[in-house]
Amino acid sequence: MKTIRLTIDKDNIDPELIEQAAGVVRRGGLVAFPTETVYGLGADACDPDAARSIYAAKGRPSDNPLIVHIWDVSQLYTIASEVPEVGKKLFDAFWPGPMTVIVKKNGRIPRETTGGLDTVAVRMPSHPIARELIKVSGRMIAAPSANSSGRPSPTRADHVWDDLEGRIDMLIDGGDVELGLESTIIDLTEPVPMILRPGFITQEMLENVIGEVQTDPGITSADTATSGLAPKAPGMRYRHYAPKGNLSIIEGPEEEVAAFIEKNCDEQRAAGRRTAVLCRSETRHLYNRANEVIVMGDRGDEEAVAAKLFAVLRQMDEDRVDCIFSESFRGAGVAEAVMNRLMKAAGHQLIRVGS
Ligand code: TXA
Ligand code: MG
Repeated sequence: MKTIRLTIDKDNIDPELIEQAAGVVRRGGLVAFPTETVYGLGADACDPDAARSIYAAKGRPSDNPLIVHIWDVSQLYTIASEVPEVGKKLFDAFWPGPMTVIVKKNGRIPRETTGGLDTVAVRMPSHPIARELIKVSGRMIAAPSANSSGRPSPTRADHVWDDLEGRIDMLIDGGDVELGLESTIIDLTEPVPMILRPGFITQEMLENVIGEVQTDPGITSADTATSGLAPKAPGMRYRHYAPKGNLSIIEGPEEEVAAFIEKNCDEQRAAGRRTAVLCRSETRHLYNRANEVIVMGDRGDEEAVAAKLFAVLRQMDEDRVDCIFSESFRGAGVAEAVMNRLMKAAGHQLIRVGS
């Protein structure tokens, strides 16, 4: 299949180009498009064949459900069998934006789209191209992240092209995304609403609007590498984001972290392996031994780290890095989402140094 690549300016959207993409969606085809979080791979959410072709293009396990994207809240009521009161408060507070809610579904969304579940994930993105595409197509658009399964989510059009060129009908290049991590997922079917995937909308932000919110114990246990509880969102159980090289996260006092990394870089390079360090700008001067030192952002600027993370993980593969040592970015708020993705990418290899 030949993939058509369209460039659309998000600040000055060409209606003819959007119509061309919307036509592909209406005909049951696959269109990758930018959202504010990551690029999505979209198709008509009510068309079981279109949903199946999303799984095929990505090589995604068919039990991993897709998120249904809407441009107006009224669409949610056409596919949900039940919308709790807390949901309405959340839509008012955070939509359009990087929040996905899980609600019970009625029969309109086929099981192909929800991986066989009787619940459905719904999100109203804020990106102008995403919103126009959904609106003009006249459909709800099922869209997972537009990477091939297991790779880091795409934050720029070239990432999508590298993974899916020839496997999808169209790619809309709308420039780099703004946020760089996938949406926060909150399950509203639980007695106490539960975060299934951390993101830019943090637990604290959610609690300020609806009161008590819990985080899926399965994610916390995976991130702290303690017990073996399985995360509730199927997609959080799979190996994900991992670069080809070995990635480990080193945590502890910064001088000791740097000393450990420098020593290990020397050893790895002596064995003929290519090395890289991911660090903060404040600690950049502590690293001289690796082949590559990548500054992820300033201390406390987790947004900057989030925006770069997936692109850097892809770059590690391109540069054929064998051993990647990352400082830890642990902290509250968005840092939780950053660490969640980094820990997954590292296969939960966390090394603590110092006292
Ligand atoms: O920011 C985002 O959410 C991006 C953009 C494109 O909107 N999309 C995205 O989709 O990250 P995807 O497919 O890569 O991740 C969807 C996650 C998976 O972990 C999946 O298991 C979970 O949502 N999920 C979807 N429906 C669910 C459901 N009914 N119950 C539990 N988890 C669900
Ligand atoms: Mg994904």
